[in-house]
Amino acid sequence: MITIENFLKKNSADQIEKNILMNLTGSQKKISSTFFYDEKGSKLFEKITSLPEYYLTRTEIPLIKQAADYLKESFRNVTIIEFGSGDPTKISLLLDSIPDEYRETISYVPFDVSDAAIQESCNLLLQDFPGLNIHGIIADFTTQLDVIPKKTNKIICFLGSTIGNFSKEQSKEFLSDIYEIMHPGDRLLLGFDMVKNKEIIEKAYNDSRKVTEQFNKNILNVVNTLVGTDFNPENFKHIAFYNEELSRIEMHLKAIKQMEISSSKYSSHIHINKDELIHTENSHKFTIEQIKKLVASADLEIERIFADEKNWFNLVLLTKS
Ligand code: SAH
Ligand code: AVI
Repeated sequence: MITIENFLKKNSADQIEKNILMNLTGSQKKISSTFFYDEKGSKLFEKITSLPEYYLTRTEIPLIKQAADYLKESFRNVTIIEFGSGDPTKISLLLDSIPDEYRETISYVPFDVSDAAIQESCNLLLQDFPGLNIHGIIADFTTQLDVIPKKTNKIICFLGSTIGNFSKEQSKEFLSDIYEIMHPGDRLLLGFDMVKNKEIIEKAYNDSRKVTEQFNKNILNVVNTLVGTDFNPENFKHIAFYNEELSRIEMHLKAIKQMEISSSKYSSHIHINKDELIHTENSHKFTIEQIKKLVASADLEIERIFADEKNWFNLVLLTKS
């Protein structure tokens, strides 16, 4: 059975528009990476995950299989909540390991800001796992964690190192908020992309097929739809580099000429200088020390760490005692 709830209320649209415009008129222009994921952006991200340079997904998948095997006996009567679920590839690996007789006792709650991703993922999962209870939630995980159904016996998943797209402060806050919705014995499975050779990281965000470039530029189409602006993505260059000091990839869009951007909804213009940058994403990379400090700040305990041989990615299983 599928139910889907959309909490992205129409009346917050005004707030979102004002926020986007404020961030585009300040001295350091930025667009929140949440806006990458319209229907086209979600598809482009899926394409990124199978690029040869984008090592993150193919490194994490065997770790999810190991975690699934480790957890399989705990899957009776459990509610699996997945934040930033996107497409169902990864959760299917967990669901595959669930013994048949437990399957109808499981609820799966995918939580994503992308309406299209939730609709598609719920339909695909029901085909592959008939009998599974699916409760899709379309909402913003930075502001709307309170919409999560209050269930005991939960396994919460936040995969793909999406936590790396938060600022350090935001990730601490997010984990503390998750701690609040966890009951003793609940688990959190959290994916972290690890610090490694700079060239390997930079290549993952500068792929030879230029899919990441399209993904980055598409954010301007999303902004055009949301605030009626007339950005032409082709007037910007894709920039992605590793900031070693802050151990993060930074993605920007660099203006190839001076521009005046207007909006059909607002009278003020956005002035952009030639070579000016619009910051679109941070993707933090972690060390084990940073992970330990982060999870300890939220009072969570490490039950197990799944890691690949090269230690490129860590999938950390956390509990609340
Ligand atoms: N979990 C998948 C997808 C990661 S892409 C994987 O590991 O491959 C990041 C996902 O987070 C996208 O599906 C995007 O729509 C979602 N997302 C981004 N910002 C969000 C927000 N503020 N609230 C809820 N979902 C968000
Ligand atoms: C979703 N997130 C973890 C991806 C990342 O690697 O930071 C988003 C992405 N940005 C560019 N490529 C992929």
